[in-house]
Amino acid sequence: MKGIVFTEFLDMVEKKFGYEVVDHIIEKSELPSDGIYTSVGTYHHSEVVQLLMNLSDKVEIEPMVLLKEFGKYLFDTFLGQYPQFFSAHDNSFDFLMSIDNHIHVEVQKLYPEATLPKFDSEVLADGRMIMVYQSERKMAALAEGLMEKAFLHYDENCEVSKEVLKEDGSEVKFTISKK
Ligand code: HEM
Repeated sequence: MKGIVFTEFLDMVEKKFGYEVVDHIIEKSELPSDGIYTSVGTYHHSEVVQLLMNLSDKVEIEPMVLLKEFGKYLFDTFLGQYPQFFSAHDNSFDFLMSIDNHIHVEVQKLYPEATLPKFDSEVLADGRMIMVYQSERKMAALAEGLMEKAFLHYDENCEVSKEVLKEDGSEVKFTISKK
């Protein structure tokens, strides 16, 4: 997993919970990296899982709630670093459609070692949008946070419903309706 995920995650923890909590979760986790990350480095996915679980224990908030919050935080990072991916579209559905066929394709070219999810997306005749998330890393909650911020960014009022297609969380179907 790319270092940007780790550096941003620890930044979020510091801003929301303070530096002591950052220190605590790094100490509690068994990290081959020793908790030292650079945004261009690549680290094992299990490191972020450990940091998330230890954060959840410490602050007594469900891991999936924290992961969704992290998605919202990461949206602003991406918006700041890659504004062209956002300005290319004037509505959230077009933007979300572009993740799998453009944004993550470019990310993969830049960072061949990146491990990205797959999204099967379509806009239905009734105006709703379906996004089926697939990834062995089971981070659909991260996607949900990113999506929610995308609706705000495009100034839309959308409702998202979720259906877990595989019990382990590796496949989740999102149905989005504009209100
Ligand atoms: C400009 C916008 C975006 C950029 C530059 C971007 C880039 C990235 C990068 C660098 C990673 C980490 C890959 C790795 O660590 O190996 C990642 C992971 C991920 N991205 Fe994106 N992304 C963007 C937008 C989105 C949006 C809007 C969504 C959700 C709808 C999304 C969903 C995810 C998820 C869920 C992961 C975690 C990996 C997994 O689930 O397997 N991304 N993305």
